[in-house]
Amino acid sequence: MEYALLNNNLKMPMAGFGVFQVTDKEECKQSVLAAIRAGYRLIDTAAVYGNEDAVGEAVREAIDQGLCTRKELFITSKLWVQDMASYETAKAGIDASLEKSGLEYFDLYLLHQAMRDYFSAWRALEDAYDADKLKAIGVSNFYSHVLANFCETVRIRPMVNQVELHPYFAQPEALETMKFYNVQPEAWAPLGGGRHKPYENEMLQGIADAHKKTTAQVVLRWNVQRGVTVIPKSTNQERIEENFAIWDFSLTENEMAQISSLDLGYVGDAVKHFNPEFVRGCLRVKIHD
Ligand code: A2P
Repeated sequence: MEYALLNNNLKMPMAGFGVFQVTDKEECKQSVLAAIRAGYRLIDTAAVYGNEDAVGEAVREAIDQGLCTRKELFITSKLWVQDMASYETAKAGIDASLEKSGLEYFDLYLLHQAMRDYFSAWRALEDAYDADKLKAIGVSNFYSHVLANFCETVRIRPMVNQVELHPYFAQPEALETMKFYNVQPEAWAPLGGGRHKPYENEMLQGIADAHKKTTAQVVLRWNVQRGVTVIPKSTNQERIEENFAIWDFSLTENEMAQISSLDLGYVGDAVKHFNPEFVRGCLRVKIHD
């Protein structure tokens, strides 16, 4: 396994396991356990995914079974927009996430979207970070101009920015901004989120064959090698294992460039974030009373 060193010197695994849309509690718990058994140590959830409790249960069971210690794990969750109305609601939202998961702390906690009063919400994250409830804090879906303004303004700079990153939506300029501010990039939908299917690309098959790997492994390795943490999601045991077996090969510079050339620049689902309807939809999603 490889690690990223965050701007607060915390080590973060370069690959983790995502549980977006794994809404069935038992399925979520079992897939997190399968992931931990396969070697994953980073688990990525969010308040709005509705499965922080199942992730917490899986963590406790993994520790009970002696699969790992809490210290070896890197658990991420995110504050939903509903709780980003003010400093107070954000503070309560962080505590609700901790309570739901039953964890004493999160290794990383993110603002899920740059919506509502995200500067006040950030101050709540900063204070929880100072109080050691959150070992690292960051943001998600912060586009370059928002991220730059944010980094120039806040007391504690975000350690991570989680955005959509895969070969068809490679976002090289966004990565430049993150590098400039020393913000670790993390990829949601690193395999295209089940819609863009970059792993079905024919050119990738040749690269995969040359390394005796699958195209999905090549897609994940490409992001890791350009410094991006990946959190592939799968509920299938074989694919969970496949997506973590990416440490025993390296892509050549030429292969990296070939994969980067697949970028279409506009197909990402993140593009919908610029749509007012999407923003309105997010504001309407309530995760608790
Ligand atoms: P499944 O859960 O049946 O494995 P992302 O991580 O980019 O959001 O993509 C998740 C989607 O990709 C899911 O539909 C998942 O389906 C599928 N997937 C996950 N791993 C692989 C893989 N190794 N090969 C092909 N599809 C995969």
